Amino acid sequence: MKNLLENIEEILLMGPGPSCVPPQVYAALSRKTLGHLDPYFLDIMEELKEMLRRIMNTKNNLTIPISGTGSAGMEACFVNLVEPGDRVLIITNGVFGMRMQDVAGRLGAKVDALEFAWGTPAVPEAVEKKIRQDSYKIVAVVHAETSTGVKNPVAEIGALLKGSDTIYLVDTVTSLGGIEVMMDDWNIDALYSGTQKCLSCPPGLAPLSFSDKAMAKLNGRKTKVPNWYLDMTLIANYWGKNRVYHHTAPVNMIYGLYEALFVILEEKPDKVFRRHRESHLALVDGLKNLGLKMLVDEPYRLPMLNAVCVPDGVDELALRRRLRSEFKIEIGAGLGPLAGKIWRVGLMGHTSRKENVARFVAALQEVLRKK
Ligand SMILES: Cc1ncc(COP(=O)(O)O)c(C=O)c1O
Repeated sequence: MKNLLENIEEILLMGPGPSCVPPQVYAALSRKTLGHLDPYFLDIMEELKEMLRRIMNTKNNLTIPISGTGSAGMEACFVNLVEPGDRVLIITNGVFGMRMQDVAGRLGAKVDALEFAWGTPAVPEAVEKKIRQDSYKIVAVVHAETSTGVKNPVAEIGALLKGSDTIYLVDTVTSLGGIEVMMDDWNIDALYSGTQKCLSCPPGLAPLSFSDKAMAKLNGRKTKVPNWYLDMTLIANYWGKNRVYHHTAPVNMIYGLYEALFVILEEKPDKVFRRHRESHLALVDGLKNLGLKMLVDEPYRLPMLNAVCVPDGVDELALRRRLRSEFKIEIGAGLGPLAGKIWRVGLMGHTSRKENVARFVAALQEVLRKK
């Protein structure tokens, strides 16, 4: 019998995630599986929570990884914090803001969308006007919009909500580990992320944190959380002192995330962010030399997700296929209205290195030359 796993190629992952995984994280994933209630595993869980707090810059007690990918983190935030009829404002300028609208709407929230053009950031003055005009139980935004490469002004929006009763919910799936995230300073109440982007762990966990204000909203619910698996009141009992069984924790994924955070904290977050910035600038430079343009205006660009305009006359799918087959490099396509118009070039986590940028730019030049 042929085993397909024996023929997996080494691909340079320069798409919108997953990113390349460092050897230490692969090694951690293959360590011996412990019982999910084992006392040594408890120590690993406690340290993991502390490392997540450090990378998120929060003191929140409930800071844990949810079993599931980034979307499970999104679902966990909304399902615990939305009650039917709650007014929710979703600031939207890409696919993931739209996904938030879908998730919140399914829970019976009265969803308002404040829309900004794809490829441009949310404008704090417009958000201010909207929240002065209407009162919302939750305001939600995506920090790093992976579908467009735009960074939204999360800190500025948080400042507008300071001292209010509104819960501020932020998606940091693509930002965490690649740019600064200051959960407490930015007044964020509910934050989720994913392991497969700048944390450079395979997909499978969604780090999440709730502030005291979010916990008060959760504990004050009139109705039960309508999803048993993601009910934070139950999950908190497993990750807290009582260690009450809820579901079997994905033990080896937790080792992987532990190691991924360990690697980032050892390198030092500031240095990691600088590495992301420098490789992004090197990429922009290389692309410019090839005559290519970026979708997003410079001040709003994300370092880890670069939206590159497809030049006229280039078959974008054929180019991606050749990069994958001839050069062993993966990049991403545009989504929704940007399909066919952009490539999404990820420089996330372990991938974000100048040597990878140089390899990609050289490959791109070759493919464009022979088109
Ligand atoms: C900003 C953002 N939010 C949420 C998600 C969903 O995460 P996942 O695909 O891991 O479920 C993604 C995935 O790309 C994302 O980029």
